[in-house]
Amino acid sequence: TDTITLLGLESSCDDTAAAVVRHTADQMPEILSSIVAGQTGLHADFGGVVPEIAARAHAEKLDICVEEALLRAGLRLGELDGIAVTAGPGLIGGVVAGVMCAKGLAAGSGLPLIGVNHLAGHALTPRLTDQTAFPYLMLLVSGGHCQFLIAKGPDEFSRLGGTIDDAPGEAFDKTAKLLGLLQPGGPAVEAEARKGDPKRFNFPRPLLDRPGCDMSFSGLKTALLRERDRLVAEHGGLRRADRVDLCAGFQAAVADVLAEKSRRALAEYLTLAPATPTLAVAGGVAANMTIRAALETVCEREKVTFLAPPLALCTDNAAMIAWAGIERFRAGQRDDMTLQARPRWPL
Ligand code: KG4
Ligand code: ZN
Repeated sequence: TDTITLLGLESSCDDTAAAVVRHTADQMPEILSSIVAGQTGLHADFGGVVPEIAARAHAEKLDICVEEALLRAGLRLGELDGIAVTAGPGLIGGVVAGVMCAKGLAAGSGLPLIGVNHLAGHALTPRLTDQTAFPYLMLLVSGGHCQFLIAKGPDEFSRLGGTIDDAPGEAFDKTAKLLGLLQPGGPAVEAEARKGDPKRFNFPRPLLDRPGCDMSFSGLKTALLRERDRLVAEHGGLRRADRVDLCAGFQAAVADVLAEKSRRALAEYLTLAPATPTLAVAGGVAANMTIRAALETVCEREKVTFLAPPLALCTDNAAMIAWAGIERFRAGQRDDMTLQARPRWPL
């Protein structure tokens, strides 16, 4: 038949996830279940994700997530058409745990195995949520990624540029740490920024003077540190009024850089004369309202559709992996027991 139902597994960073997605040709895909088990509590004392702890937690949680995903979908393993799994890029211990789990399930059930690139999972999400037509422009902004991609086909992406140092989410997290705010830093900095003046500090907009879509966020963090130290020395501590202005200034600088680089990426993308021009975002940073508004404004000006999938599908999840697996499956692509976990895997 032309209906495909896949189980997807994701374990490349600090979320363990399993999902079941079903798709009938020319219809909207259906997410039958999507389970995400986070690990934030586990790493809280260490100021970042600890790869060893993450890998062990994935190994412990994967089976439970799979069982729960099947239960909620109301399906047995034998009723599926295959198993899709993130095979990279990511923290290798977690990726290995996912691939091993998927191989075990495939061996036990005789179902085909489909290895999925985690970035392709993010980049194909607009087709899962909105059946977006190729080619579309994609901005991936999370704690680990920052890049512009033109999605031309399920297996065909061209990269227009990205960060040359930190990802924006990482910059938000480090800023939160410097200002004594809670992790994850993005939501905490955004909440503070709402009360502050974005114009008081004139933080740098790195690489805006250079052509192309590459970005840099580490200099911004250094500038913020310098201002913080100056204020602390002057007042004997960081005053609340200064902190909210620092957050607002930082956030405005990130939003400006992403907006201007998006404008340039759009110009390049529009030369392809797409039938339905679209800029889609993915990644946790896409939750930021100031950044979203800045991107929306750019799209309005260029008469391009702005697409932000529901947040649960913007951040790491297994429904996007099952969906990317379905796209590969339709193209006749399968893997076998030789599937390898890859720490690096550019699109
Ligand atoms: O996509 P994601 O859940 O995980 C990966 O990094 O792959 O993104 C998490 C990142 C964190 O760095 C977090 O601080 C950031 O997204 N983030 C935000 C906001 N919510 C989450 N950054 C800015 N504003 C937000 N509201
Ligand atoms: Zn991700």
